[in-house]
Amino acid sequence: MTTVNVAVIGVGNCVSSLVQGVEYYRGGDAPGLRHPVCAGYAISDVRFTAAFDVNAAKLGRDLSEAIWTPPNNARAFAAVPYLGVPVVNGILADGVGPDSADLVDPRGASSGATELTPEEVAAHLAATGTHVVLNFLPTGAQQATERYARAALDAGCAFVNCMPAVLARSPQWRRRFAEAGLPLLGDDLKSSFGATLLHRALVDALTASGVRLGGGHQLLGGGNMDFVNLQDASRMASKKATKVTGAGSAAHVGAQYIPFMEDRKVAYIRLDGEGFGGSPLEVELRMVVEDSPSAAGNALDAVRHAKAAMDQGVGGLLEEVSATLMKAV
Ligand SMILES: NC(=O)c1ccc[n+]([C@@H]2O[C@H](COP(=O)([O-])OP(=O)(O)OC[C@H]3O[C@@H](n4cnc5c(N)ncnc54)[C@H](O)[C@@H]3O)[C@@H](O)[C@H]2O)c1
Repeated sequence: MTTVNVAVIGVGNCVSSLVQGVEYYRGGDAPGLRHPVCAGYAISDVRFTAAFDVNAAKLGRDLSEAIWTPPNNARAFAAVPYLGVPVVNGILADGVGPDSADLVDPRGASSGATELTPEEVAAHLAATGTHVVLNFLPTGAQQATERYARAALDAGCAFVNCMPAVLARSPQWRRRFAEAGLPLLGDDLKSSFGATLLHRALVDALTASGVRLGGGHQLLGGGNMDFVNLQDASRMASKKATKVTGAGSAAHVGAQYIPFMEDRKVAYIRLDGEGFGGSPLEVELRMVVEDSPSAAGNALDAVRHAKAAMDQGVGGLLEEVSATLMKAV
């Protein structure tokens, strides 16, 4: 048990909050963090060893600088010193959707440069001593996620899938990680405090009271790249699948890009149902949070659980931890 060496895939807003969070909580106790120590590891044990992106504006920069590079617009809450982790050109595949194309210049696409192969990514992971690969690719990047997962397997790393690609839900990928004796966590990280948690809490409170749930919705608005990307209906479909599982009800889910909100997210949650004697009832709730910091706490728990499982020689899907930290298992 030494350090938790983490590679990040996609140096976007979530990774910005995560990297800042490690600095913010390095000193010990501060509000907003559920587990200062998790699975035997403190926040100060978490190290960033590698970073992959495809946006030309971020490539070659140190991770400590790339996190501030537009279109990132997550709230700045901690100074980050030079980390000595250059952002390297990763595997493009289906990472950049059509709605993001004006805001992201993928070097592979614009220069005709060949994207890295999973073997080259694996070599970089091995050379940097990475233990855990943390996937924060845009929603809809199924092929890219699978190629990075293959690289993680080749390099002997655990894989934490923080976005809605189907990986932990795939029997094949579970088997591959189990056979390799490497931990897998996923899919799609829950925010420590977010719309999924509140939606699920309302569903649980109503059903525990005997209410029969009818319709409902979870309507989201925000001004970060995740919302740009979610304007693509096919990419939204994969987010919807994990959100409906996480919320525990068959609600309508929608997402609107509202540029002036930047990294703030507004959620309108509504549930309809029938109570005693068939009496109709409605519950409506509005929540506003900074979107990306709310994901970082659970990401920090996930990487520490993954490393602890590696220490104990436990491989395959970490089902219990995934059920706690992820929207869909
Ligand atoms: N609270 C939250 O914000 C939250 C919670 C749970 C899950 N998520 C999920 O996390 C993911 C990331 O969210 P974000 O807000 O950081 O998004 P983002 O768009 O800010 O960041 C994504 C990053 O990935 C990079 N990228 C695109 N294709 C790539 C590729 N092929 N290889 C390497 N890098 C690539 C982009 O250039 C960008 O820097 C999304 O799928 C989102 O749904 C977010």
